[in-house]
Amino acid sequence: MNSGERLSELAERIRSSSRITVLTGAGVSAASGVPTFRGREGLWNNFSAEQLATAEAFRRDPKLVWEWYSWRRELISRCQPNAAHLVLAAWSRRFTGFTLITQNVDGLHERAGTQYVIRFHGSIWEVSCWNRCASSPPRWWDDSVPLPSIPPLCPHCGGITRPGVVWFGENIDPSIADRSLKAARCDLFLTVGTSALVYPAAGLTFDAKTQGAFTVEINPEATPASGSVDLAIQEPAEAVLPKVDALLREK
Ligand code: OAD
Repeated sequence: MNSGERLSELAERIRSSSRITVLTGAGVSAASGVPTFRGREGLWNNFSAEQLATAEAFRRDPKLVWEWYSWRRELISRCQPNAAHLVLAAWSRRFTGFTLITQNVDGLHERAGTQYVIRFHGSIWEVSCWNRCASSPPRWWDDSVPLPSIPPLCPHCGGITRPGVVWFGENIDPSIADRSLKAARCDLFLTVGTSALVYPAAGLTFDAKTQGAFTVEINPEATPASGSVDLAIQEPAEAVLPKVDALLREK
């Protein structure tokens, strides 16, 4: 199958599916200027996940961890949604039965106007009280850039806050995991811009396939999922999605 045929196949699958679920990863935001985690320019080449994205790291040095998140918040605040985010946002409004699960914490899907976003790994724009003080909600929105202090403080108890993201070794919020598993029960499962290495998110593609979904991957590089999806499109998301959208608009 050549590239054009693959895109037509995806457009046809979208047309004929009642329930469409999309799983996105860092690659969908790459064209917006948000660094991915793995690969040549990936964050994990220059930073250590163990020193920055675990509860142990935060306990050891909350200032260091917050400095890294503060840097990322500033970087992301200057980025705009790209063509891939915009097409997915349009599909979320156009197709009933559309769900988007994202591993990204950058909030660009929401800024593009996407509906029904499940934030699998939380949001860089939320914080929670590190001490889980009794007066604070489980997490709250704080998009101040720059932060008023590092670490930012809990307005309820004066202790330190933590970023509202899921770190390595932490569990996915059970209600998020449950909604995601339900969304994997669909007709078409499209995975976009993820290395398919981090579980449990990576397992959703296999859950979807096991439950009978037609599975599609959009990623310029091969991943561990590429061999098992029904259709692999090895091109950048911001190029593929507008082309598929154009096909959907044709008669
Ligand atoms: P990764 O950085 O692991 O993978 C990004 C993927 O995007 C790679 O497979 C690239 O080939 C692909 N990619 C790059 N540019 C692209 C483009 N323009 N269009 C489409 N794909 C492109 O990011 P994730 O898979 O999201 O978790 O990483 C999963 C999790 O690991 C993250 O949520 C984060 C990370 O460590 C935590 O921090 C818990």
